[in-house]
Amino acid sequence: MCGIFGYTGKRNSVETVLKGLKKLEYRGYDSAGIAGLHTGEIVSCKEVGKIAALEKLVHEEKIELDLAIAQTRWATHGKPSVVNAHPHLDQGRTLALVHNGIIENHDSLRISLEKQGIHFVSETDTEVIAQLLGVMYQGDFLATLREAIPLLKGAFALAIIHKDYPGQIFAIAHESPLVIGIGHGEAFVSSDSNAFAAHTREVVFLANSEIAVIKSDSLQIFDLMGEIDKETHQLTEEIQEISKGDYEHYTLKEIFEQPRVIRQALLSRFLEEYGTATFEELNLDVNSLLSVQRILILACGTSLHSGLIGASLLEDQARILTYTDISSEFRYKNPIVPPDTLVIAISQSGETADTIAAVKEVKAKGAKVLAICNVYGSTLTREADSTLYLRAGPEIGVCSTKAYTSQVIVLALFSLMMARMRHMNKYEGQEFLNALKALPDVVQAVLDKAPEIEKIAKKYAHYENFFFIGRRYMYPSSLEGALKLKEISYINANGYAAGEMKHGPIALINADCPTVALGANSDTLDKLESNLREVAARDGKIIAIIKESDRGLEKIANDVITIPDTIDELATVPVTVVTQLLAYYIAIERGADIDQPRNLAKSVTVE
Ligand code: F6R
Repeated sequence: MCGIFGYTGKRNSVETVLKGLKKLEYRGYDSAGIAGLHTGEIVSCKEVGKIAALEKLVHEEKIELDLAIAQTRWATHGKPSVVNAHPHLDQGRTLALVHNGIIENHDSLRISLEKQGIHFVSETDTEVIAQLLGVMYQGDFLATLREAIPLLKGAFALAIIHKDYPGQIFAIAHESPLVIGIGHGEAFVSSDSNAFAAHTREVVFLANSEIAVIKSDSLQIFDLMGEIDKETHQLTEEIQEISKGDYEHYTLKEIFEQPRVIRQALLSRFLEEYGTATFEELNLDVNSLLSVQRILILACGTSLHSGLIGASLLEDQARILTYTDISSEFRYKNPIVPPDTLVIAISQSGETADTIAAVKEVKAKGAKVLAICNVYGSTLTREADSTLYLRAGPEIGVCSTKAYTSQVIVLALFSLMMARMRHMNKYEGQEFLNALKALPDVVQAVLDKAPEIEKIAKKYAHYENFFFIGRRYMYPSSLEGALKLKEISYINANGYAAGEMKHGPIALINADCPTVALGANSDTLDKLESNLREVAARDGKIIAIIKESDRGLEKIANDVITIPDTIDELATVPVTVVTQLLAYYIAIERGADIDQPRNLAKSVTVE
C-alpha cells in the first residue's frame, strides 16, 4: 500500500522518479506527489488521481528538481485529496517526506505537537512525522532521525529530504519494505526493487529501524547505535518487460497467460519415473519433511483460497493434518504451534503485512516456515526458512488471477511430494502428474470459450447480488469466484459451501439473485444438485460450471459452461479461469476500472 520512490544522480530526477512511481502504481492510486530540492528550496507538487494526473501537472508547472522523492497513495488516514497526498512538509518547510505504513500513535503525537504551536494542514498520520522531525531538528538530522524512530509506533518506510542536506535522501524502514538500488553515480530508493531494476541490480534491503543516508556516489547505513556494515544483494531474476501487449487490460492478459504460467510452475519440478515432485530451491531436509505431523497454512485473500485447496490436497493425498488460518486473525492469537508443525505462508507479493506478522509469530514459537511466493527478494522470502517460487511473472492487475493458479500448482506439487514420501504409491503419483501436465490444455480450452462466457456475462451483468456455491474443492473456488466478482465489478457476491445455503443464506434467493454453481467436483455433484433444486424452487437463476462428461445440472441451470474433464482435486484451476472471465466481462459491461479497482491496492503493507 502506497509506493515510494526516490532518486539522486545524473539523470533528470523528475522524469526518473515519475517513471519509477508508475511501476509502483499497483500499490495505490488515489493521489500522488513529488518533492525535491531546487535552488536550495523544497519544491513539491501533488495531485489527486492516478500518476498520469500528477505527471501532467508537473509538466504544466515545469517542475525541476535536483533530486526527488515521490509517492503514490492508498489512503488510510484522511480521504484522497491534494492536501492529504504525500510528500508532507514540516511547518518551516525545511524537510519533505513520503511514507508507506501507518503511525499508530499519531493522535497523541499530534496533540503534543499542537501544544508546541504546530499547525497541521492535513488529516494524515504522515504529517505528524514531518512536523515531529521539524520540531526535533537541532542541526544534526541523522541524530534527529535516531531520536525520532523510537517515538513512532506502527509501520513506516520513509524517504526524506532536508534543505540543509542537498544531494542526500534519508530513508528509514520499520515493518514496511524499502530497498535501495546502487548505480554508477546514482542511487534509487523504492518500495519495490522492480521499479528501478532496469537501471541497477545491486541492492540493499533495509531492516527494521535502519536509516540509510543515500548520496549519488555513496551509501551509509545506520542503526540506532551507529553506522553498520550492510550486505548488498544482486537481483537475480530476469527483468520482465511489463506491457499489456495486445490486451485491453493487464487483468485480461494475465488471465490468458495461465496455460504458460502452469507450464512454467511445473517446469523441471517433477520426476515422471518416480511419480513425484522435486523443488530445486527447497532447502528443508528430507528428515524434517518426514517428521512433519501437521501443516498450518497462513495467507490472506486470494492466497488464502489457494491455501484452502492446498489444505484439502495435503490431507487427501499426504494424510497430513492441515489447517488454514487468516493471517490477520492468526497474528493476534497466542497460537498453539506444536513441534513438528510446518507453516506454509502463501503470498503473491511477499509484502502482505498481516502474513509477515503471522510468520514472525510462528517463528517465535519455533516453527519452520515455507513461503510460496511470486516476488523474488520480497520480505516474506527473507523471513522464511525456504521459499517455493510461483514463477508467474509480474502480476500487474490489482486482482490476483494467474498467481492463484500458480499457487495451486505449487501446492499440488508439494502435496504430491509429501504424499509420495508417505503413503502414495508411484502409480498414483504418476496419475496425478498426468492430470497436472494436462492442465495447460484444459485451461486453454476454457480460454477458447471466452466469447461464450462473455455472452453469459452480459446477460447477468445487471444483477446486484450473486451467490457462488460449491462443495469440496469447489468450496474455496466459490470463495475465489465471489471475491473476483465483487472486487472488479463492485457487485455484492458471496461464496458459500453449497450445503450451508439452507442454514441461512437461502433466505436471500429470489429472481434477482443468481447463483453460480461450481459443479466440477464430480464426487459431490448429486449433493450440489439437491442444493440447486432448492435455489431453483425459489426462482433463483443458476449458471452452472461443470465437467464435460458430468450430467445433471443442465436440467436445472439457466446457463451451463463446461470445462474439459479433469480430476476433482485440480478442477479449481479451469473453474477459476471461468469465474475470472465472468467477473472480467461483467465488470467491462458495467464500465468498471478493471486493472485498478476502486479502494484496492496490490500490495497490502498495512494492517
Ligand atoms: C484478490 C487479491 C487479494 C490478495 C491479498 C493477499 O484479487 O489480490 O485478496 O490475494 O491481498 O495478497 P498476497 O498474495 O500478495 O499476500
